[in-house]
Amino acid sequence: MTSPQSPIRPWPFGLPLLQAIRRDPLALAQSLHKQHGDIASVKVLSTHIYYLFRPEAARQVLVEHQEDFEKDQRPLDILQSVHGANVITTEGAVWERQRRILTPAFAPKRIEACAKLMAAAADECASQELPQEVGANAIIDVDALTTLITMDVILRALFSYHYQREEAAAVSQAIRSLSKQLMRELFWPVRAVPWLPYPGRAEKERSTALVRDLIRARIEARRQAMSAGAEAGEDILGLMLAARDEQATAPDAGLSDQEILDNCVGLFGAGHDTSATALTWWIGLMAMHPEIAARVRDELRGLPEDRASAVKTIMEARLLNATIKEAMRLYPPSTATFSRRALRDVPIDGQVIAKGALVLIPIWSLHHDPRWFPEPDAFRPERFMPGAPVLPRSAFMPFGIGPHFCLGQQFATVEMALIAARLVRNHDFALDQATALPAPEVNLVLKPRERLKVRFTRLAQDRQTVVPSERAERQSN
Ligand code: HEM
Repeated sequence: MTSPQSPIRPWPFGLPLLQAIRRDPLALAQSLHKQHGDIASVKVLSTHIYYLFRPEAARQVLVEHQEDFEKDQRPLDILQSVHGANVITTEGAVWERQRRILTPAFAPKRIEACAKLMAAAADECASQELPQEVGANAIIDVDALTTLITMDVILRALFSYHYQREEAAAVSQAIRSLSKQLMRELFWPVRAVPWLPYPGRAEKERSTALVRDLIRARIEARRQAMSAGAEAGEDILGLMLAARDEQATAPDAGLSDQEILDNCVGLFGAGHDTSATALTWWIGLMAMHPEIAARVRDELRGLPEDRASAVKTIMEARLLNATIKEAMRLYPPSTATFSRRALRDVPIDGQVIAKGALVLIPIWSLHHDPRWFPEPDAFRPERFMPGAPVLPRSAFMPFGIGPHFCLGQQFATVEMALIAARLVRNHDFALDQATALPAPEVNLVLKPRERLKVRFTRLAQDRQTVVPSERAERQSN
């Protein structure tokens, strides 16, 4: 795990500081916390940036005083250069309308409907990528595996579309390259001008076109089917095409074609790389802690028969879900919220954040604070089991809090549990020639710096393991 670096000196204009944040944002945040205490203030060019390390202060900014802050425009502009203007990259009335229209697509009954496709994606991918004969084993590039599964899930959920293997590999490569590029651009002192040459521009344009073309093709295929008489469909695209803003007075209050495209791109990006990353670290941690993986398997075998709801059944696997939460505590896919800009002077945690200042909520630091998480680097799923000491509100916030909290939180929670359950019940995980997990690196999301390779060994099924959606399927046949 990353350790704090040497203290920050008051560098001129803060530009070296900007580079230090870029090099290792996690270590830098830890170092600021150590030096400055629970509110650290630094200056880059003419902007004050506050890091808030107390959960209560984070809550004041993101929830109680949310109207006094908005997402900082600069990172939104950088993301917009790939995403366009969607629910992630906009603020104010535009964001509010899009959030209102998209929210029903993530309602509990929609997630229930998605549970089956999540399980199917995991099973199909496992049958192609993982050893199937009892006792057979293979060394697996874990992030490549989890990305294949979660990309399949999101494409099925958005478009009822099952990708070709080569298509998935190319898109996945494009997403990696875009993450690296956007991360670089976030730390440039001046913004890249789209019509002037800048480092990485050609590759960025190629990758953006590849991702947007994949999405555009799915939308066009649906529109063609609809003009031939088909229904809009029950997937997220179908709901977007049919959606109307209930608060609007205009006769056509749906999403425009551009908004549909941009939101599909946003949901595709936000909706698979985050969950893939969380699952990658979870598999690594299970490989490090085989005794806990064995207990998770026992728990899955004992799941109650509940044919009505796959979601309810998998959420009853307390230890499984605690291991996933603990993996996201140690390795939160989003290590910080988007920075927020103060719209006026705002009192936060006994200090005034001046109008125009930026505030950063370092989720990774909150999750590694020994005040709430004793021995913060240790993997202890029992922190999230019933009977564990109560955490301060918002000390654990992998999905953010307040009006911008993750729209896909429930979707991702169910998805990760279903996928994790299917992988761990059939396979044993062991680190290959390593005794520790690779160091983490922030690349928009928190990825392993070196590839995480794990040996998957196919286990014997001592009895028909209970797996929610299969059970439901057997019953309906
Ligand atoms: C483990 C998986 C995930 C994690 C850790 C995660 C984390 C987050 C966080 C921390 C935010 C809030 C950012 C802020 O307030 O600045 C966020 C926002 C968002 N997430 Fe997720 N996310 C995950 C999965 C998903 C999925 C599966 C989807 C959609 C299918 C999704 C869609 C969104 C959207 C649309 C927003 C913007 C919400 C808004 O501003 O109104 N996320 N996510």
